[in-house]
Amino acid sequence: MAKKNENDTMDKLVSLCKRRGYIFQSSEIYGGLTSCWDYGPLGAELKRNLKNYWWDAMTNRRDDIEGLDAAILMHPEVWHTSGHVAEFNDPMVDCRTCKARFRADQLDQVRCPNKPSKSPVENNCDLTEVKQFNLMFKTFMGPVEDSSSTIYLRPETAQGIYVNFLNVKNSSRQKIPFGIAQIGKAFRNEITPGNFIFRTREFEQMEMQFFVHPSEDEKWFEYWREQRWAWYRSLGLNMDKLRWHEHGPDELAHYAKAAYDIEYEYPFGWQELEGVHNRTDFDLGRHQEATGKDMGYKDERFEEKFVPYIIETSAGCDRTLLTLLCDAYDEVEIKGEKRVFLRLSPKVAPIKAAVFPLVKKDGMPEFAEKVYQSLKKQFKVFYDVSGAVGRRYARMDEAGTPYCITVDGQTLEDETMTLRDRDTMEQTRMKAPEIVEFLEQKCR
Ligand code: GAP
Repeated sequence: MAKKNENDTMDKLVSLCKRRGYIFQSSEIYGGLTSCWDYGPLGAELKRNLKNYWWDAMTNRRDDIEGLDAAILMHPEVWHTSGHVAEFNDPMVDCRTCKARFRADQLDQVRCPNKPSKSPVENNCDLTEVKQFNLMFKTFMGPVEDSSSTIYLRPETAQGIYVNFLNVKNSSRQKIPFGIAQIGKAFRNEITPGNFIFRTREFEQMEMQFFVHPSEDEKWFEYWREQRWAWYRSLGLNMDKLRWHEHGPDELAHYAKAAYDIEYEYPFGWQELEGVHNRTDFDLGRHQEATGKDMGYKDERFEEKFVPYIIETSAGCDRTLLTLLCDAYDEVEIKGEKRVFLRLSPKVAPIKAAVFPLVKKDGMPEFAEKVYQSLKKQFKVFYDVSGAVGRRYARMDEAGTPYCITVDGQTLEDETMTLRDRDTMEQTRMKAPEIVEFLEQKCR
């Protein structure tokens, strides 16, 4: 259960996100909707940068992975075949006294609404027997609301990839081993969502399915574990806060032969950030059986036809974004004043640089405006003339902007400007072309 100062950190982060336009509560003016969140101007930008960073690593920089954008709504049979209708359940209990509903396997991590200092177990709550609760959201296709028109909002993006395996293989002429990557919304009717955007009912996944020969599954499983670890390092996360967790036999999903989670130490404890799974030929095998479509693969390198094994890397986009925010949040006391810094990597920071004239006179705003207009063509930059320059720096530090460019008296003599680094606070004088080169190097 989260301790008081852990809650404080999350409370401060939630409040910063609202204040600076990262994340707002969904439908806030109607009192909000539990576990649903909207990304504001800076949040939308950060999310887009994060997705581009993943997409670039997974598709643009590789010859062996193709991209896909499948529909959220799929044929309902897909979810019977995949095992989600029968098995995508969480164990649930109800409290007979306060009517609250809990996940039976997480009773030590939640609080009793009647006694928030205690978990339902510590409070000796009057709990019902464990029931299985299916996490898929149901809706109806077309005007008639009966069981024949029931369809599901996808609980993972992966199935959209499996049902398109033949389409992508045939149209791209990729040969095994190759992968298919997808970013998209997924929906789970979680019993206990919470911890801000950590566990929500609507979220985005960044998933990649890599199709391999069954004899090479373990080699590729290790390869993808290494790749994903390196990706988080390149994102600039504090690697001391990341660790691997291997799934024991009782944790393995119904489709997995082996699974490792990358966990991050959030203010509320170590939790899963991404899963790397060996899904064997379970998915393609099941879809082959259900549809009669031949998922077998053969080319000149193999003696026998085989149904490919799948190594999956499955990351939550919102959860990675939360990880970036938790990792970047920092408080520093400067001259007796508490200052907040969001130390996001320049690669994903929503605003790459802010441009300021030191004062609103002597031609400084005109010069700064020109610099801003020219940088804007290549980078997301922000122009600010209002308030003392120290205040403007502080606002940008809190918003996660890594660099501030200030036009001052000397600029008008030699065209150099100061470029201030958010994290070192060092200021270096540069002319406009050097600034462009610098930002190119740091932000791309
Ligand atoms: N296709 C495999 C799969 O979906 P998962 O472990 O259930 O595996 C993968 O989910 C990732 O999706 C998780 O590691 C997490 O980052 C994210 N995720 C899952 N459920 C989530 C939820 N309710 N809210 C936010 N992110 C979630």
